[in-house]
Amino acid sequence: MIGFFDSGVGGLSIYRAVHQLLPQYATMYAGDNAHVPYGPRTHQQVRQFTTAIVRFLINHNANPIIIACNTASGASLQYLRNEFPTTHFIGLVPAIKPAAETTRTGRIGVLATPGTFRGRLYMQVKTQFASNVVVYQDTCPGLVEEIENGRVNQPAARNILEHALKPMIAMNIDRLVLGCTHYPFAAEVIRDIIGDQIEIIEPGQAIARRTQFIIENNLGLNTPEDNPPHRFLSTGNTAVLTNALACLLGWHDIQVEPLRWRNGHQVETA
Ligand code: DGL
Repeated sequence: MIGFFDSGVGGLSIYRAVHQLLPQYATMYAGDNAHVPYGPRTHQQVRQFTTAIVRFLINHNANPIIIACNTASGASLQYLRNEFPTTHFIGLVPAIKPAAETTRTGRIGVLATPGTFRGRLYMQVKTQFASNVVVYQDTCPGLVEEIENGRVNQPAARNILEHALKPMIAMNIDRLVLGCTHYPFAAEVIRDIIGDQIEIIEPGQAIARRTQFIIENNLGLNTPEDNPPHRFLSTGNTAVLTNALACLLGWHDIQVEPLRWRNGHQVETA
């Protein structure tokens, strides 16, 4: 069973790509909607929440587990790999490598949360792969909340994006990295603002291929299941995930199960 974790609904942008490529595997998706957004939180707090939910996924036999959140990956990936050495983790870091390799103007834009930009993982990737291009960054304050609440097509979300993107367009970027898994759900608004001269880079397909590689090579599995189960759980208002599944994936009336926090260190089904 493939496990997915995100602070909320954003990981569904990764889920969509993975499920499209690997429909034969059971999945379990857990969103920490009670604590979203993770972006402004400390790494320590994000790591604490992430670890508790990952432990829950492992107890339910998830392997591999996709940390479908750049912020949680930046704060926790290394820690999780040390803590749970028999689980295969696939993490996310803004895709500045392909952007830096293909840019013609030598200028790229990255949208991600403050937590991701502060993380060591992002710094490392930026130093390693983007040291000879100019990187413009923006945290899009408030955008995650707008997307969580299904208001991606409302004026507030558009204003946040215009504020972030207009200066980048003026600086002549030709690649835009969506470094937060929530943002692909705003792709239409983004495309409308930036026009068609700038390429949008989002990681769904690459993560799906990586997951397939790990399942087939590291876990040695190739056993398609008929009608594998798909479970969705949320620590917050389950209607948020139900609505997101309907709007974003076209999956209607999915029963999202409530997940309850106990003392900030443990989650359990209600
Ligand atoms: N979806 C998450 C990411 O990829 C972050 C959203 C949040 O701030 O919780 O970074």
